[in-house]
Amino acid sequence: MPTFHRDGRTLHFLDEGDGPPLLLLHAFPLHAEQWRPQLEAFRGELRIIAPDLRGFGGSSADPQGATVQMSDFADDALALLDHLGIEEVALGGVSMGGYVALALLRTEPSRVRALVLSDTQMSADDEAGKQKRSETAQALGTRGIQVLAESMPQKLLAQPPQPELDARIRGWISQTSAEAAAAATRGMRERTDARDILARYAGPLLVVVGEHDGITPLAKAQEMADLVKGSTLKVIPGAGHLPNLERPDAFNEALRSFLAPLRG
Ligand code: MLT
Repeated sequence: MPTFHRDGRTLHFLDEGDGPPLLLLHAFPLHAEQWRPQLEAFRGELRIIAPDLRGFGGSSADPQGATVQMSDFADDALALLDHLGIEEVALGGVSMGGYVALALLRTEPSRVRALVLSDTQMSADDEAGKQKRSETAQALGTRGIQVLAESMPQKLLAQPPQPELDARIRGWISQTSAEAAAAATRGMRERTDARDILARYAGPLLVVVGEHDGITPLAKAQEMADLVKGSTLKVIPGAGHLPNLERPDAFNEALRSFLAPLRG
C-alpha cells in the first residue's frame, strides 16, 4: 500500500484504476479496504484514491487522549491530493467519511467537481448524542476496542447480516486502535452543522442511503438532497448503513450513472 508523510505521520492510501479521479472516504471505525468493491468495479473507468484516515488501517494515530477533528482528516486528504498532484476530484464519503467530505468542501470547495454522500448527515450531534460520544470515548479508554467490536456490526449492517460481511466488519473493527477510535469519536462529537456548506454547494450531488440504515436514516438523506438543486437521492434496497459493501451492484450502478458526465 502506498504511503505519504504529513506532520510526522505516515498515512496509507489506495490509488487504483485509470480515469477521472474519485476520492473516497471511509466510515468509522473502518479503513480504505471498505471501498474494495468499488476499486474492483471501476478499475477501467475511474482512478479511485482511498486513504486510511488518520489512526485507521495502516495510518499513524495521534497521541493518546487526542481529538481528531473532521477538518484534520480533511486536511490530510487535501495533502494527499497535493502529494499526488491532483487538483480536482469527485469526492465521496460514507458516514464519518461524509462528515470529512463536508469539512473538505468547507475548506476547498473549488477542488470538488461532484459530491457523493452516502449514509451520512449534515447536522451536528444534539446534546444527547454528544453525551453518548463522550461515554463511548471513555469506554474505549477503559475497555478497549471491544466496546465497538461488540456493539457496532449489528448497527452497521441490515439484519440478518450476510455472514461473510459480518465477519469481515467484526475483524476490521477488532483491529482498529482504541485510541484512534476514541480520538475520532471526540472529533465527531465536536463537528459543527454543515447545512451552510451544502446550501452553498452548486455542483452535482448524489445522496445514497440504505433502506434499513438506522444510524443515518432516509430523513437525514432527504434533508441533504432537498438543499441542493438538481441533486439525486438513491435508496439502496436491502442495505443498512454500508450499502457500498452490502449491495455493491446497486451502489455501483448509482455511482456509475451519476459520474458518467465526468468520464465524458
Ligand atoms: C460511521 O459509520 O462512520 C459512524 O456511525 C458515524 C457516526 O457515528 O456518526
